[in-house]
Amino acid sequence: MNDKELVAFEAARLAKNGMVIGLGTGSTANYFIEHLAKRQLEEGLNISTVASSTISAIKAENCGLKVVSIAQLSHIDLYVDGADEITSNLSLLKGRGQDLVMEKLLAKAANQFIVVADKSKLVNRIGEKFIIPIEVIPSAWQMVKHQLEKHGAEGDIRLNASKDNVAISAHGSYILDMRFPEHINDEALNALLNNTPGIVEHGVFYGIASQVLIADNGNIEVMHTQKPL
Ligand code: A5P
Repeated sequence: MNDKELVAFEAARLAKNGMVIGLGTGSTANYFIEHLAKRQLEEGLNISTVASSTISAIKAENCGLKVVSIAQLSHIDLYVDGADEITSNLSLLKGRGQDLVMEKLLAKAANQFIVVADKSKLVNRIGEKFIIPIEVIPSAWQMVKHQLEKHGAEGDIRLNASKDNVAISAHGSYILDMRFPEHINDEALNALLNNTPGIVEHGVFYGIASQVLIADNGNIEVMHTQKPL
């Protein structure tokens, strides 16, 4: 097992009979889906899942998991997802894959949000390696960009893969990819983005994760916060 699969395997052990489980998006989340399906098959677990993306829903169904619509749910028991960046206070950067609206909705609605990643995701500050993805109401993208530039942000609207049009997220938003000055910490950045009209959702996950499982060459480190398991 590689490190991503190892943490996913460990997270799948947290599933219990009767749970509603949220499925993240990405290669680590894919391993989680596989190991969850394996446990369901081998132990006869009765679980329902809800997916953060179409690709994860397809994967889960192909693995034999029951996938329900988010519209049927008011909360979920457990959400497991990867991340692009993770700080020591369990702030995350997510959303490289354009599914961050659903990812944050499920993460916040979960009794437990478990993050699974390898050591490469650890950073000293959010935005250290990646740009901050910000989903905006399409008609408001220029206004939002201008508002953020007043705080020293730099960046632009994301283009599609063939670079001949703007990218559209799974939620139907345009996406601004922005860098912010280092003096704006994760708490301030989260507040700024939460309080800017026209922003639908953003990739800073501040104070949401319950626990982070980090794999490093076959060993797992558990990083805790205020929401114990
Ligand atoms: C998806 O939108 C992201 O938030 C992912 O959670 C992130 O990109 C992690 O992906 P990997 O598990 O493939 O590293």
